[in-house]
Amino acid sequence: MNIVLGITGGIAAYKAPDLVRRLKERGADVQIVMTASAEEFVTDTALQAVSGRAVRSNLWDKEAERAMSHIELARWADVVLIAPATAEVMARIVSGGAPDLLTTICLATEAPLALAPAMNHVMWNNPATQANRAVLEQRGVHILGPGVGSQACGEEGAGRMLETDAIAAAVFDLGISHGEGLLKGKKVVITAGPTRESIDPVRYISNRSSGKMGYAMARAAVAQDAEVILISGPVDLPAPPGVEVREVTTAEQMYGATHAVIEDADIFIAAAAVADYRPVAPAEQKIKKKREAMTIELVRCPDILASVAALDGGPFTVGFAAETERLEEYARAKLVNKKLDMIIANRVGADRGFDRDDNAATVFWAAGERQFPEARKSELANELVELVAERYYALRGTGTQPRLSIISNKNRRT
Ligand SMILES: Cc1cc2nc3c(=O)[nH]c(=O)nc-3n(C[C@H](O)[C@H](O)[C@H](O)COP(=O)(O)O)c2cc1C
Repeated sequence: MNIVLGITGGIAAYKAPDLVRRLKERGADVQIVMTASAEEFVTDTALQAVSGRAVRSNLWDKEAERAMSHIELARWADVVLIAPATAEVMARIVSGGAPDLLTTICLATEAPLALAPAMNHVMWNNPATQANRAVLEQRGVHILGPGVGSQACGEEGAGRMLETDAIAAAVFDLGISHGEGLLKGKKVVITAGPTRESIDPVRYISNRSSGKMGYAMARAAVAQDAEVILISGPVDLPAPPGVEVREVTTAEQMYGATHAVIEDADIFIAAAAVADYRPVAPAEQKIKKKREAMTIELVRCPDILASVAALDGGPFTVGFAAETERLEEYARAKLVNKKLDMIIANRVGADRGFDRDDNAATVFWAAGERQFPEARKSELANELVELVAERYYALRGTGTQPRLSIISNKNRRT
């Protein structure tokens, strides 16, 4: 794996030579790019010695630029890792600024970006930093940590850079594509987000789904080299890179869009929270406030998941079950009744599941189950997609299964 390791001006930069060694132990080729502030904390001599490559820091270094331009460097990278990542560099990346070599590479690369933030806990918890973290995650940037504990400033809290070995392990566990991912050559159709069912031209019935889990699943499938079509209800999320997004509003539209592309799909993941019922006859004009009480007659929406599972020679079909109670019972019933290959169940409620960045899940299939403890939706999605691939090959056994050995055992409790 070719890694551009960005080092920024945090106190944890002193750990950078050790991080380089950990990455190289795992077989990575590491090109270091330092910011001017990082040079205050660690010398390029030490970093050059451990990485075996001349350290880059200056965007205007003509000689280095001639040898390998910043654009070539951006293309060379399989992953750009920034560790430690300062609050400042997070803000620069969010804003799209490129005043230095490192952030220019971040803008110019198509490789995944991973950040290991390290800073004082007040800086980390500052709403500006948290807003930047959320934007970065929404854009598919992998945020590694930070850890909680004693800090260089003598205080305690969240903001410690993860241990170097944990960062190195996490980078190799990101499911970063080398062009030979688990789902190479497979077509994966994913639904995400809520649907909206009109009551009248200005009102609708919907639900609290944010689409974050489905979008994270789409990114994770792309990282495994799948061809991904994401059929999305109305959400406030950017299209994940490399994913074909088809936007819909209603359950009926989602049904149509799914069946338009499902025929040659290998895997179908239904992460959308599709309305079960819709108003029978939406009013053509805005309903006026005349009566004390009113009744809206509802009719069942098409069951997209069951319809795909029932297809002759259809794809490996994965459902989601968002339940507020009796999780296993309801999820297993859905698995059997809808004839699914797998179901991913999670608890939802006022403070869990919907519109949050974290989630936990239990996955059930006919002969097994696996638990995934609470994690960022992006990390959880990587693990879930690995499991989907594992079960897909176990069931369909196509003989074209690539690299299943890379499946990580992190967080596994079979
Ligand atoms: C002694 C010292 C330690 C610092 N440690 C951190 C840190 O751990 N994390 C952080 O985000 N900023 C830290 N800063 C502030 C950054 O160095 C500063 O925001 C700088 O502009 C970051 O630039 P860069 O992101 O280009 O490297 C520290 C500053 C000083 C003087």
